[in-house]
Amino acid sequence: MVNSFSPNARRVVVLGTGGTIAGRAASSADNIGYKAGEVDVADLLGGIDAPPGVTLVAEQVAQVDSKDMDFDIWRTLAQRCAHWLGQPDVAGVVITHGTDTLEETAFFLHSVLDAMKPVVLTCAMRPATALAPDGPQNVRDAISVAATEGARGVTAVCAGTVHSGVDVQKVHTYRLDAFASGDAGPIGYVEEGEVRLVRAWPSAATRRVAPVFEPGDVQWPRVEIVMSHAGASGAVVDALVQSGTGGSDPLRGLVLATTGNGTVHYLLEAAALKAQDGGIAVRRATRCANGRILPKEGDALRDAGALTPVKARIALMLELLGK
Ligand code: SIN
Repeated sequence: MVNSFSPNARRVVVLGTGGTIAGRAASSADNIGYKAGEVDVADLLGGIDAPPGVTLVAEQVAQVDSKDMDFDIWRTLAQRCAHWLGQPDVAGVVITHGTDTLEETAFFLHSVLDAMKPVVLTCAMRPATALAPDGPQNVRDAISVAATEGARGVTAVCAGTVHSGVDVQKVHTYRLDAFASGDAGPIGYVEEGEVRLVRAWPSAATRRVAPVFEPGDVQWPRVEIVMSHAGASGAVVDALVQSGTGGSDPLRGLVLATTGNGTVHYLLEAAALKAQDGGIAVRRATRCANGRILPKEGDALRDAGALTPVKARIALMLELLGK
């Protein structure tokens, strides 16, 4: 799919998936006791002025609390993004999403979409019914990014900051400015509808994972995450390998959420090596919030570089799906 930017592109499509941004509480004073995924995306756009000459299109793709995000929704989302990005008069796509798995959806879309136009995820930390909701400004900022000439790739916009879909991570449970980009830092900022870039837009994925876009069922490879910690053992890995044996959903991959620079408790490592010998793909991803694993000669288990465990899981899943 090639999406060349048209200077006459005038539509921005807003895809709704739920989240706190679409959440409803019984009282406007309640910022935490709400139900996520209640308000239609079309209603989230009420009262938001589009940038001059831009028409907004709203489409509800899902309506979930993003802790419950699943592969089928991701697939539909990827297909709808591809559809809309392929329309010459569409400048970009905005996705309203829960904060809890936003970084996973962003990384998934980054990995499968040839996004030569912008795909901008946005969210809120307070429900739509809050006294001072943060959603409307975030949506307005995301629309500004999507309508910006030359913008491209998958990004996330929250609290006036633009993060790349590769680097974005939720780092706070409550504050409105809940996201960070780690060592890479943000791509830029949105100030009164204008984007101030501090580094380049993310490049589009070069790998196209065909099953995501083809009709028919997809058998998503089962990839689990196991954390290494003080007092760890091989029991969880052994149980996971055992649980899949002969079943319809066998374990295909394992991501070890490692300590520090990719280190793994010796008992867990022994179980992981045994699983790898048995044909399970194993990757190490650091549980540190910043930095990457620096590989060492003779490493018996491959590392996932700078990817967090949840992103390493998606990368491995797509790698196995593409085989
Ligand atoms: C969710 O992730 O759907 C709920 C939490 C949030 O959006 O902040």
